[in-house]
Amino acid sequence: MDWDLFVVHWLHVAFGIFWAGSIAFTRVTLFPALATLPKEQAVAARNTLLTGNAKRITLITAAGTVITGILRGLMTGVLDQLDTSYGWIYMLSGVIAILMFLFLLDWSPKPAVLRHIYLAAFPVLFTMMVLMRFGGF
Ligand code: HEM
Repeated sequence: MDWDLFVVHWLHVAFGIFWAGSIAFTRVTLFPALATLPKEQAVAARNTLLTGNAKRITLITAAGTVITGILRGLMTGVLDQLDTSYGWIYMLSGVIAILMFLFLLDWSPKPAVLRHIYLAAFPVLFTMMVLMRFGGF
């Protein structure tokens, strides 16, 4: 057993499911539930998710996912496979996830289209992860 790889893979999956899972939970479960409250309360509750600890946790899980993901690939020799579908998926995942992280760094209100692209990137990345698990396409 390669324990270094095990630990990095474990951390990557843990950070990844936390980041993607929190987005899925807030959009699918929490926000629709908040929408049943009086508008002021709903807006106040949503705003608390964009500040303080909630903001810090999102940044940590996003950065953790990106860093451990890049490391995870490097540790199994992705640099020797950049001309394969696995390598292309890896590079594209890295670019998409870094852009998503940069998007998160600026917490000022953004155009709806950018927010939709950010949300749509999660199922895309998830699919790319599973594709890599099967060695590419
Ligand atoms: C939202 C972002 C991400 C999520 C939710 C995520 C999640 C996951 C999960 C769950 C796995 C395990 C797949 C399996 O064993 O079936 C995985 C594997 C992996 N991830 Fe990610 N990941 C994300 C971003 C990234 C990024 C940005 C990179 C690097 C550029 C990356 C690189 C990898 C690599 C190399 C593997 C191992 C693939 C293999 O089995 O060979 N991930 N990821």
